[in-house]
Amino acid sequence: MTRPAVLIARRIFPAVAERLAAHFDVETNDADTLWSREELIQRLQGKQGVFVTTGEPIDATLIAACPDLKAVCSMAVGYNNIDVTACRARGIAVTNAPDVLTETTADFGFALMMAAARRITESEHFLRRGAWTKWAPDFFVGADIHGTTLGILGMGRIGQAIARRGALGFSMNVLYHNRSRLAPASEAPIGARWVDKATLLAESDHLVIVVPYGPASHHLIAAADLALMKPTATLTNIARGGVVDDAALAMALRSGRLGAAALDVFEGEPAVHPALLDVPNVVLTPHIASASLPTRLAMAHLAADNLIALLTGGTPRTPPLEPTTC
Ligand code: DGY
Repeated sequence: MTRPAVLIARRIFPAVAERLAAHFDVETNDADTLWSREELIQRLQGKQGVFVTTGEPIDATLIAACPDLKAVCSMAVGYNNIDVTACRARGIAVTNAPDVLTETTADFGFALMMAAARRITESEHFLRRGAWTKWAPDFFVGADIHGTTLGILGMGRIGQAIARRGALGFSMNVLYHNRSRLAPASEAPIGARWVDKATLLAESDHLVIVVPYGPASHHLIAAADLALMKPTATLTNIARGGVVDDAALAMALRSGRLGAAALDVFEGEPAVHPALLDVPNVVLTPHIASASLPTRLAMAHLAADNLIALLTGGTPRTPPLEPTTC
């Protein structure tokens, strides 16, 4: 019996690639080239499965041109690079990698928020360039975290994990805005309160954005939204580039309209809006919120498990995705 053929679209951990090779005829990407849609289409001819990450464009054009494809398994939780509707219409199962990265990503979101509030990278750059000559009472004064109001935009698993850190570890007052409200039993232990988006923006001392990206969340935070925020507030985006209008954010930071920001994701990444690069009060990291070694391994193994199950008649560890509106 011939084995299914699978494409691993990026260089992944050798142990994970070896597991896939035990089940499938595998084509790997050892050079870790960012293949275009056309190159992916060419490599996917005759392949039943593909292992993807955050960026490979699995869109309707690709789906129509890859008639053998049966399973698309991503090692990321966000799947805005995959047209789930087009896949489902062609009977292709799509899985993502939820849960395994929740706590690690929440740790990082919290760290970014603290770095922005307490001006950690800004002051480090100052020190490194030899500008530190004396201590002063108002030297790099920033905002407190403990006892302030934490606003979460998007209260899924990661949002709730950040809320727990804020409420239980830092005595923060937690507000959130989400399409659906949490059950009272989930709100109560962290004292979380649902508010409308305008109230969230106006009352948060520290806003953390964790909504999925899609047409409904494109520039969900634009200039008019930033204008509602406290001038001392911080904004942290660990969701996806495009949820925040980066140009408007750079302007708000530069003009003093907003206290500070921290961004792990960018519209059009790996390009970063040039206006952000020379704004001092923004912390910038290259989409690494889930990047602890144990978590990245767990994400990759989960995607591999799902691919193996889907192409060998098993049950994937996480259910195939349904099309959503976001
Ligand atoms: C995800 O899984 O969607 C992250 O953005 C990648 O860490």
